[in-house]
Amino acid sequence: MIVGVDQRPIPPLPLENVKTIVGDVRDDEIIELLCSVFREGIDVLLSDLSPDVSGVWEVDQSRQIELAKAALRVAKSLLRAEGWAVIKVFQGADFEAFIEEVKNSFNYVRVVKPQASRKRSAEVYIVARGLRSGDATARRRSPSEPLPRGYSPG
Ligand SMILES: C[S@@+](CC[C@H](N)C(=O)[O-])C[C@H]1O[C@@H](n2cnc3c(N)ncnc32)[C@H](O)[C@@H]1O
Repeated sequence: MIVGVDQRPIPPLPLENVKTIVGDVRDDEIIELLCSVFREGIDVLLSDLSPDVSGVWEVDQSRQIELAKAALRVAKSLLRAEGWAVIKVFQGADFEAFIEEVKNSFNYVRVVKPQASRKRSAEVYIVARGLRSGDATARRRSPSEPLPRGYSPG
């Protein structure tokens, strides 16, 4: 099962195992909804989040790091111990501090620049695995709890 989250509606995909949710990844409600859907946790968290660009680099980069932090929070709430997180980050202010934050939570952390990413773009991807025990937020609901309103699988 793959669930995509975006604040803008995602055109439906004709695939049984793909669902989409419209929402802000920074909202607690979205994390709770995902925890309800994935009661056993997830294997991969992939974040390509970017803000609407203002044209002022410092502002855009700062907003993007905030989104990367939101993705990290989702990863820490949902990933299984051996699950992978792949998170896009714009290099700039707070980038090193963010890497340190990831390193504090995961045993394996690498910064990767995919070939498909333009060389002059500041974007890189953080690849992390091995969520340290104690970091996996015990937010997943017990199987007896119903799904929140507004989400119906299938
Ligand atoms: C680079 S685009 C991702 C494109 C996508 N990977 C694709 O192939 O279509 C970044 C996306 O992040 C979404 N986004 C930005 N801030 C968000 C937020 N707070 N919550 C959820 N989605 C957000 C934007 O709406 C945008 O669709």
